[in-house]
Amino acid sequence: MATIFKLLSLTIFLGLIFQAYGQPCSLNNIVVKQKPGKEFPWWDVNVSNNCSCTQSQVKFNCTEFTDYTPSVDPSILNKNCLLIQGRPLHYSESVNFSYVLTEQFTFQTISSEIACS
Ligand SMILES: *[C@@H]1O[C@H](CO)[C@@H](O)[C@H](O)[C@H]1NC(C)=O
Ligand SMILES: *[C@@H]1O[C@H](CO)[C@@H](O)[C@H](O)[C@H]1NC(C)=O
Ligand SMILES: *[C@@H]1O[C@H](CO)[C@@H](O)[C@H](O)[C@H]1NC(C)=O
Ligand SMILES: *[C@@H]1O[C@H](CO)[C@@H](O)[C@H](O)[C@H]1NC(C)=O
Repeated sequence: MATIFKLLSLTIFLGLIFQAYGQPCSLNNIVVKQKPGKEFPWWDVNVSNNCSCTQSQVKFNCTEFTDYTPSVDPSILNKNCLLIQGRPLHYSESVNFSYVLTEQFTFQTISSEIACS
């Protein structure tokens, strides 16, 4: 009984912390911007984190992308669309890369590990 009460208090306490510091970051804070590169069909991509929590293991949905990407540096985006080998992308940090594809690909962030300090 005491344990349950403690657990409940902890949950409420943590809830209050989150409220006090506002919404924790989400996948939406991984901002992907892209524009046509110097030459068709190159695209220049800029991925940034606009939230104060660090995000690592950032992964995009590549179901329809991987076949076309010999052009991307795997240390920046590997064939599973894991960004910078899973290393953390801190607040306001950005990563850029380019790819070759006749149509612009929409990068959808599907997972990440969010760490707020
Ligand atoms: C971060 O970027 C997203 C997507 O562009 C936007 O909706 C959100 O308002 C931005 N947040 C901040 C804190 O700038
Ligand atoms: C990516 O965009 C951010 C702003 O959203 C900018 O500060 C940063 O310099 C850009 N990075 C590169 C490598 O172009
Ligand atoms: C990834 O994209 C494919 C189609 O483009 C879709 O079928 C699939 O559900 C997506 N996966 C996730 C985890 O969103
Ligand atoms: C990323 O940006 C840096 C500095 O702006 C540039 O030197 C580098 O070539 C770019 N990398 C790619 C893959 O576009």
